[in-house]
Amino acid sequence: MSTLATKRLGTNVGAEVLGVEVDQLLADDALPAACMEALEEHGALVFRELHIDDETQIAFSKKLDDVGKPEPAEPPKIYLVTLDPKKNPSAEYLKGTFAWHLDGAQDDVPTKATMLSAHAIAAIGGDTEFASTYAAFDDLTDEAKERLGRLRILHTFEASQRLVNPDPSPEELARWHEKPDKEHPLVWRHRSGRRSLVIGASASHVVGMDMDEGRALLDDLLVRATAQDRVYRHEWTVGDMVIWDNTGVLHRACPYDPNSSREMHRTTMSGDEPIQ
Ligand code: OGA
Ligand code: MN
Repeated sequence: MSTLATKRLGTNVGAEVLGVEVDQLLADDALPAACMEALEEHGALVFRELHIDDETQIAFSKKLDDVGKPEPAEPPKIYLVTLDPKKNPSAEYLKGTFAWHLDGAQDDVPTKATMLSAHAIAAIGGDTEFASTYAAFDDLTDEAKERLGRLRILHTFEASQRLVNPDPSPEELARWHEKPDKEHPLVWRHRSGRRSLVIGASASHVVGMDMDEGRALLDDLLVRATAQDRVYRHEWTVGDMVIWDNTGVLHRACPYDPNSSREMHRTTMSGDEPIQ
C-alpha cells in the first residue's frame, strides 16, 4: 500500500493523488518514493491543477528518476508535445500518439515513466487514455499465458507510423527506416515478479509466425487490453500533471485538431530494466 492519499479513477489503471500542493513536490523528501510506489500500484497518477513550471517539472522528475537507482540520473529535458511544427520540428510524427503505444518500444531499455503537464488544451478532443498491460496479462487463461510467454514480437517505427500515415512517400519510408527495429518478448517478466504484455502500435509482427495469424493475435490482444471498461480516460484541465508507468501501461491521445493550441510539457524517467 502506498502512503500517498489517492482516489481510484479506473478499474485497472489510474488514481488521483489527493492533497499534494505544488510547494511540496521539491520540499517533501518522502514524496518521490511514495509516488513511485503509488505508480507501481495504480499505473497512472493524476495531480489536478498543479500548474508546475518547467524548472519544477525537471527537478521533480529527476527526484522520481533517482528513486531506487544506484547512480543519480541526468536531469531530464522538457519536450513539447504539440502538433505545431513551429514549436516541435518532429510534430508530424506525434500523430503516432493517436494509436495505443508505449514510449520507446524500440529502445533496449524503455522509459520507466513519462510525465505530462498541460499548458494548453484542445477545444475538442485531446484527452489521454491509459490501459494496463499488467491487467491484460492477468486476464489471460493459464494456457494462453504459457503459449504467449514463448512468443517474440518485432517492433518497428514503420508499424506505428503506418497507422496514422498509411500511404507514405518513399522519402517518408526511408526516414522511418532510420530508426532500428527491435525484437522483444511478448510477455515482459518484470523484476517485481509481475508480468505485462508488450503490445501496441510499434508491434509489427510475431517472429516466426504466419503474418496474418500473428497480426490477428496482436490485434485481438490489443482490443481486449483496451476495451472501454479497462481504460482510464483523462480529460485535461490546464495545469493538470499526469505520470504513467510506461512499463505496464499503454497510452494514446484522443484525436484533436492539429491547429489547436494543445501543448503538453513532457519529461521522462529513465528505465533501468530491459524487456525480458
Ligand atoms: C507522449 C504521448 C499523449 C498525449 O507524450 O508520449 O503519447 O495525450 N502523449 O499527448
Ligand atoms: Mn507516448
